[in-house]
Amino acid sequence: MKFFLDTADTDKIRDLYSTGLVDGVTTNPSLIAKSGKDFFETLREISSFVAGPISAEVTSTSLDGMIKEGEKLSKIAKNIVIKLPLTKDGLKASNFFYTKKISTNVTLCFSPAQALIAAKSHASYISPFVGRLDDIGENGMDLIKKIKAIYNNYPELQTKILVASIRSLDHVIESAIIGADVVTIPPNVLEMLYDHPLTKKGLDAFLNDWKSTNQSIL
Ligand code: E4P
Repeated sequence: MKFFLDTADTDKIRDLYSTGLVDGVTTNPSLIAKSGKDFFETLREISSFVAGPISAEVTSTSLDGMIKEGEKLSKIAKNIVIKLPLTKDGLKASNFFYTKKISTNVTLCFSPAQALIAAKSHASYISPFVGRLDDIGENGMDLIKKIKAIYNNYPELQTKILVASIRSLDHVIESAIIGADVVTIPPNVLEMLYDHPLTKKGLDAFLNDWKSTNQSIL
């Protein structure tokens, strides 16, 4: 399973990218607003050191606008993936970019039906938002199970499942159990993956015992 970082914070991306755990990056207009930085500069900076897919979201809602914006964004770097909303025009744009061999990420997916039609529109990735479904009392991971079952039934559907709106370690582990292709993880959740209280406790004990020996490795 691939790990993408769900942030536009370039310092965080640089720091976590050097762990070797990060396979790509996803951004959205809210994350760009939160970063307070210029959209194009941010994408240029990320693409200067991230080799994997980098999702950049269009903000037009018309087909013509999405195509124009997507074409402009795709010129930033060859690994830019055009993020499109799951609307009728978004699906038309997905199909258009497929004919141009430009990768797409169809976002804001909340139902199995939406995931099926996104795959039929040749989206490279579908982004189902698990956390936002949990927020309204539904079970986000059930959606991932259903999408996985549907896509498994039809091997001609090439769309990859990119689990988005991840809030917890359980979302990551459940995604791996189900067999999702990608999880896009906020930096704080990525950090939860290696933090464990028993690791910290064990390390503190080892270091204390080592100190009592008055030895040094270097
Ligand atoms: C990523 O592609 C999505 O835009 C993001 O995961 C949404 O997360 P949120 O529901 O925490 O805003």
